[in-house]
Amino acid sequence: MKTLIINIKELLQVRDASILKVSGSEMAVLPTIKNAYLIIENDLIADFGSMEDLAEDLNPEKCIDVKGKMILPTWCDSHSHIVFAGNREHEFVDRINGLSYEEIANRGGGILNSVKKLNESTEDEIYTQSKLRLEEVIQLGTGAIEIKSGYGLTVAGELKMLRVIQRLSNDYPITIKATFLGAHALPTEFKDNRKGYIDLIIDEMLPEIAKNKLAHFIDVFCETGYFTVAETEEIIEAGIRFGLKPKIHVNQFNSIGGIQAGIKYNALSVDHLEVMTSQDIKSLKNTDTMPVALPSCSYFLSIPYTPAREMISAGLPIALATDFNPGSSPSGNMNFVVATACIKMKMTPEEAINAATINGAFAMEIANTHGSITIGKKANLIITKPISSYYQLPYAFGSNLIDTVMIEGKIIV
Ligand code: NIG
Ligand code: FE
Repeated sequence: MKTLIINIKELLQVRDASILKVSGSEMAVLPTIKNAYLIIENDLIADFGSMEDLAEDLNPEKCIDVKGKMILPTWCDSHSHIVFAGNREHEFVDRINGLSYEEIANRGGGILNSVKKLNESTEDEIYTQSKLRLEEVIQLGTGAIEIKSGYGLTVAGELKMLRVIQRLSNDYPITIKATFLGAHALPTEFKDNRKGYIDLIIDEMLPEIAKNKLAHFIDVFCETGYFTVAETEEIIEAGIRFGLKPKIHVNQFNSIGGIQAGIKYNALSVDHLEVMTSQDIKSLKNTDTMPVALPSCSYFLSIPYTPAREMISAGLPIALATDFNPGSSPSGNMNFVVATACIKMKMTPEEAINAATINGAFAMEIANTHGSITIGKKANLIITKPISSYYQLPYAFGSNLIDTVMIEGKIIV
């Protein structure tokens, strides 16, 4: 099946296949073609170029005229927890009334509240709730997503979550990467036995997950009150032995050395980074570890935003993701993430779009198939409504500017 799209006002994020991420000053450049065409063959981008150079003898099965509209690759959301049960709307109101996220967690709320809800729900109930979230984010332009476990914290609960992720991956056309986050919090039963829980992760959860091929990556919440740097290292080392690459939660509230642990184990990404020292920024230089910022979490919890300007000035790349979860970011809207990165983190529209596409793909190890308009990559496209320029995407932050989403060459309805 060959589809030709013509009269694209501007085709954004046009890249050569050799570009797998952009760093520092390169992030300010968003390569585009004005008045462009694009050819899709089956699920892949087959060709593109300027309308002036469009050959006449193409004979496509389908031709779409998108006059006035722009096209960009779909968002790559490299950090989410969209598989969960219920919600935490009462904690949201508790925070409005003065409690902090930390105080709520210390009272047994927070992550452990979602753990209780998840373990009380059946696999089918969790699947039914999670698929609605997945369908919503696809409509919002997400074409690849990473999803974490971490609300089970028992062998059965973690496996149940990972099976739901696997089922979503089988049932939906978008690319899904699964991350095992057994070390998300210490479950109540192990309150006085940290070693016992870490042993359970390493000796029981990991072998079962590896045997059933249920995860690609391993994650740890490395933070004061959660897991120490030494524990993080022990867990990611074990994950690596089972073939899982690390992607870790670090520096959300405190800088305790999690970034350096990630780099030591060649983590694919280090995520959150709301609290960054100059040493943390220095450590990330010239590494293959992608720093990932989660501005919806900063927005929702009223905590600092990742210091993107300092990091980009230091030559680092940045990826942007939603962190979609019931406690710190109950939104999976990448358009809002891009806008908030511009408005609050002072990233330019070009930097934010790079961070939410090619760099997001890199943080999921899928940059060779996703994240840019490149011949041979997946035909995962956002077709915008008619817009004056791509600045509209972050500028009109509350408007839905997406006309059509295409995943693997097919229009999503
Ligand atoms: O990335 N920080 C750790 N984990 C999630 C929040 C989980 C929750 O509150 O349920 C996060 O923000
Ligand atoms: Fe998270």
